[in-house]
Amino acid sequence: MAYVLGIDIGTSGTKTVLFDKEGTVLASSTVEYPLYQPENGWAEQEPLDWWNAVKSTVSKVISDSGVVAEEIKGIGLSGQMHGLVMLDKDNNVLRPSIIWCDQRTAKECEEIEAKVGRERLIEITANPALTGFTASKIMWVKNHQPEIYAKCAHILLPKDYIRFMLTGEYATEVSDASGMQLLDVPGRCWSDEVLEKLDIDKALLGKVYESPEVTGYVTEEASKATGLKVGTAVVGGAGDNAAAAVGTGVVKEGRAFTTIGTSGVVFAHSDKISIDPKGRVHTFCCAVPGAWHVMGVTQGAGLSLKWLRDTVCSPEIAEAEAQNKDPYYIMDKEAEKVTIGAERLLYLPYLMGERTPHLDPDARGVFFGLSAMHGRPHMIRAVMEGVSYSLMDCLSVFSEMGIYPDSMIACGGGGTSKLWRKMLADIYNCPISTIASKEGPALGVAILAMVGTGMYGSVEEACEAVIKPGTTQNPESENHDRYMKFYERYCALYPALKEEFSKLAAV
Ligand code: XUL
Repeated sequence: MAYVLGIDIGTSGTKTVLFDKEGTVLASSTVEYPLYQPENGWAEQEPLDWWNAVKSTVSKVISDSGVVAEEIKGIGLSGQMHGLVMLDKDNNVLRPSIIWCDQRTAKECEEIEAKVGRERLIEITANPALTGFTASKIMWVKNHQPEIYAKCAHILLPKDYIRFMLTGEYATEVSDASGMQLLDVPGRCWSDEVLEKLDIDKALLGKVYESPEVTGYVTEEASKATGLKVGTAVVGGAGDNAAAAVGTGVVKEGRAFTTIGTSGVVFAHSDKISIDPKGRVHTFCCAVPGAWHVMGVTQGAGLSLKWLRDTVCSPEIAEAEAQNKDPYYIMDKEAEKVTIGAERLLYLPYLMGERTPHLDPDARGVFFGLSAMHGRPHMIRAVMEGVSYSLMDCLSVFSEMGIYPDSMIACGGGGTSKLWRKMLADIYNCPISTIASKEGPALGVAILAMVGTGMYGSVEEACEAVIKPGTTQNPESENHDRYMKFYERYCALYPALKEEFSKLAAV
């Protein structure tokens, strides 16, 4: 038999899943690791934590499945996008990785736009300079830690660091490279112009592949560390969102998904390149060779509910323990008891600043309209609604760009909540479907490995064979109308607070 491995290096943990050719799961293992926030708005992780998690999850999946390593034909890598990994000439990690949700680089974004020109930058990289993207993180290290920058010999993204540890190759692929802001996104190659203007040596960057292409093979050292067979092929893989698109069959024009993970994303496939001149949504190369996607990102989606769980919901955590259930299940039940609008309590999910549509690193979370009658159930519901409104903001930008998806899949941890899916259906006013597999990005990159190792002829053909539909929730127009009254108030809050956010950041 032939099997493939999907490895997803996420923000909260790494998940490794072994699949057969039909996409059936043979074994799965997840290991979590910490996120460090040394200052308000900063976010870092240790690349060696990711590698340790990969070693232990891969070994566990091989031993739990009973599959012999020779039968694992290919590996796909997915992961959190944008994170900056710097290695010295001996391949030692030079500093903790500054990851996607870190917001320290507002000044470097101004510097990038001054050096390249905002319009030219959008023309080449398809996006304005953003604090989340890798280029501004590189410039920050250049400006603040020149002694580290001087020692830097290789710049890699999180999953590409794992590729290096597995294969010894310095490589990336177009979907994740798009989020570095150094790629010519229409041309699918590094931009000499941007690199020159920012004075970043191209030799620091890895070779760029298309997502299903084989990028290297497992080395002897990596084989000893993981139990994988020497010579197993590692394909390009994809950034977590492009990978989730493949794992949910969003590989054709008209298809779209909403994912609620740590961040929240609304993603639409596009056969031709389409750029928002205001830069509110990202345009990236997608994992289907020759195609692109647009995607709106809300920084604090699942993160908001996790924050509420960890800071406020200890009674729900205790109840979950007593019932042997997930705390989010209990929180869902509480939120269900509250009516639409959470008794006039609104929540802005800007815990880590915001991308779509505000592009504002200084924005912060807000509960608005708190009253003595509100309890934890109202707060839980308000957080879920606030995140959904923020995802609705992404869809509104798509409409302005003339992009009208004809189907919407829900995925990610939040997508497993029936209540959250119903909220999205009512707010978007469109049916929300799931697919049978819950493996998302891990399945997506496993499919890319199936294509790269010749099990299927194309990404579309593999998705047709592997992806099975799940359930669908339909919108109710009465609920939509009620939500829209609160959405209107939600939309009015950010402009009213914008200046105060920046004044607060300056205190
Ligand atoms: C996308 C983004 C996040 C991360 C973390 O631009 O920053 O979705 O990939 O999951």
